[in-house]
Parts: sequence; C-alpha cells; structure tokens
Amino acid sequence: MEVNQVELTISAVEEEQYPTGNQPEIALVGRSNVGKSSLTNVLINRKNFAHTSSQPGKTQTLNFYHVEDQLYFVDVPGYGYAKVSKKQREKFGKMIEHYLSSRPQLKGVIELVDGRHEPTDDDVAMYQWLTYYHVPTLVVATKVDKVKPSQFNRIEKQVRQVFSMTKIAPFQLFSAQTKLGKEAVWNWISQQTGV
Ligand code: GTP
Ligand code: MG
Repeated sequence: MEVNQVELTISAVEEEQYPTGNQPEIALVGRSNVGKSSLTNVLINRKNFAHTSSQPGKTQTLNFYHVEDQLYFVDVPGYGYAKVSKKQREKFGKMIEHYLSSRPQLKGVIELVDGRHEPTDDDVAMYQWLTYYHVPTLVVATKVDKVKPSQFNRIEKQVRQVFSMTKIAPFQLFSAQTKLGKEAVWNWISQQTGV
C-alpha cells in the first residue's frame, strides 16, 4: 500500500484510551532501540512521524497510528531497557501483555530483532508468548544494511533456529535505511488485515 494519510490518533496508557471501532490493528514489538518506530515510518512513508531516537526507551506509550483511515499501526514501548526503573518496566509489561492478549482488533504482530546479533532471551520469550496466544506473528530482522548480503541466509537460519520457528512461519529481512523488505512487510500486513 502507498500511504498518503496518517494520523497519530492517541498515545495510550490505559485501555479506555484505545481507539473505538472495529478497524484492524498491527502491533510492533521488540527490544528498545531495535527500530520499531523506524519501521513504522518506512511503512507510512514518513521520515520521523513516529519519533525515533538513538537513545533507547524513546517510545513509552501505545501509539496508535491511523493509516489511510483503514487500519492502525500500534508502536509499542521496547523491552529490555535497563535504564527504565523496575516499577516502570512492570507497568509497561502489564500494559503490553494486556493489549496483546485481549484486543479483538489486533490482527497481527511484527516482532523485530536486530539482524546484526543473535536474538536475546527476551526476544525468544516474546516470540514464545505470541505463539502461545496464537497471535499471527511476522518476525523481522532489521538493520540489515549493516551486514553483508552474503550473511542474509545465515541470519534467517539463526533466527529460525533460536526461535524454533516452523518452516512456514513468516520471516523477513528489513532495513529502514535502504527500505529492503518494505513491500514484503506490507504484503503480510494486507494478508492479516484485508486492507
Ligand atoms: P524504542 O522506542 O526506544 O523502543 O526504540 P525503537 O525500537 O522505536 O527504535 P528506533 O526506531 O527509534 O531506532 C533506534 C535507532 O536505530 C535509531 O538511531 C535509528 O536510526 C536506528 N535504526 C533503526 N532502523 C535501522 C535500520 O534499518 N538500519 C540502521 N542502520 N539503523 C536503524
Ligand atoms: Mg520507538
């Protein structure tokens, strides 16, 4: 989809603030600083609409981006960021878990991992959790502009292995810098949402 219109509907901390209506939602999860907001910007054709930062912990609320009046992207606070207080982390965790496990409008989750490194225990736990709740999940290995194309197969193999993914579980390499994988990610979103 070529996106022209996008609007930040709400930065929510409570369920009462989530958008009403039945339009489909796609959430982005992953470690702090992995590139969730950057991927959102690529998908919606904007440079810094979803605020990005080289400092981890930038996104601290559930940000609902309304795209072409048809679906929402939900940019979620990252996990694994040590500088956020334990109390705050627990609060984020509860908010995210509640949203991911109980939201009927949620049609799929994009889990981002850093294509330069082996997935972390937190990454694995998140994938297992999504699988357990039967949330359709696309695993995206991002920042691959930082690795040689000759490594691409190895990255996919490693992520599939560490996550114990099935052969048909969807996986995509991505770069917010070169926009590699943009179309494939959009195709997956269209399949999940019918948009
Ligand atoms: P939090 O909001 O803190 O959870 O982080 P985030 O996952 O939203 O990450 P964000 O999109 O803010 O990106 C973090 C940093 O990684 C920024 O400096 C981005 O420019 C950089 N980055 C994101 N995607 C890519 C990519 O594909 N390639 C490269 N080289 N850098 C990227
Ligand atoms: Mg962010």
